[in-house]
Amino acid sequence: MASPTSSPIEQGKLPGHVAIVMDGNGRWAQKRWLPRVAGHKQGVESLRGIVKACIERGVPVLSVFAFSSENWNRPAEEVSGLMDLLVMALSREVPSLEKSGVRLHFPGDRSGLSPRVVQGLEAAERGTAHNSKLILNVCFNYGGRWDVVQAARRLAEQGVEITEESLSQATALSHVGDPDLLIRTGGELRISNFLLWQSAYTELVFTECLWPDFDAAELDRAFGEFARRDRRFGRTAEQQADAQPAAGKRHA
Ligand code: IPE
Ligand code: IPE
Ligand code: MG
Repeated sequence: MASPTSSPIEQGKLPGHVAIVMDGNGRWAQKRWLPRVAGHKQGVESLRGIVKACIERGVPVLSVFAFSSENWNRPAEEVSGLMDLLVMALSREVPSLEKSGVRLHFPGDRSGLSPRVVQGLEAAERGTAHNSKLILNVCFNYGGRWDVVQAARRLAEQGVEITEESLSQATALSHVGDPDLLIRTGGELRISNFLLWQSAYTELVFTECLWPDFDAAELDRAFGEFARRDRRFGRTAEQQADAQPAAGKRHA
């Protein structure tokens, strides 16, 4: 049983690691007869609000899906718009994120990105490395399958035995625990190659809300749903009532 003095995260009332598939930008823009990239721009505004809300609520880790391995299949104009937006958002947002205590990471395949983009990501990671209030993982050119393959390949190259623990440690999100809650906006009921390895026991919340409309009230709705979930990790409900495992940890 959780002690009355334990934190909301330890009690399982608040997720220690929130992951979000930020979907629906294109539809948000199309509904307004705007180009899709206008939806992506509005999506950056949404993210700013959700980062602030996570800090205010004491959530220590937020991982967002910004560009998937498969998003290269989009029209060239949209892909280059997204790359430009990333570089612009970094220069505009990083100074205030740094002041707010946010530490940035960009899990994903850098080999596919232009030097201009890679330099921007590295500078943002370096510039916020001393922060610890909120770890913000912006998954860019990320794919769950890519992550498992790069981790397995690295272990094989090093001659390290592949176990659940060693593979977890070699993934691009080894610096944080597994997500407790994964939210997908935009109404689709799928994972789309996000954190495949890490979300084995993650609670899933899907909402019709398009990402540019997703705000602190929507976040609280998802948190409310999370708080009502009964996480059993393979045990019976009776066993679980006796031993609540701490959230945000891996469960071997
Ligand atoms: C998510 O919004 C952002 C990215 C995939 C980069 P979408 O662009 O997929 O928006 P919809 O799903 O077309 O509305
Ligand atoms: C998932 O959204 C990727 C991101 C939000 C970055 P998509 O819009 O690419 O997913 P699908 O294609 O509908 O599955
Ligand atoms: Mg989409």
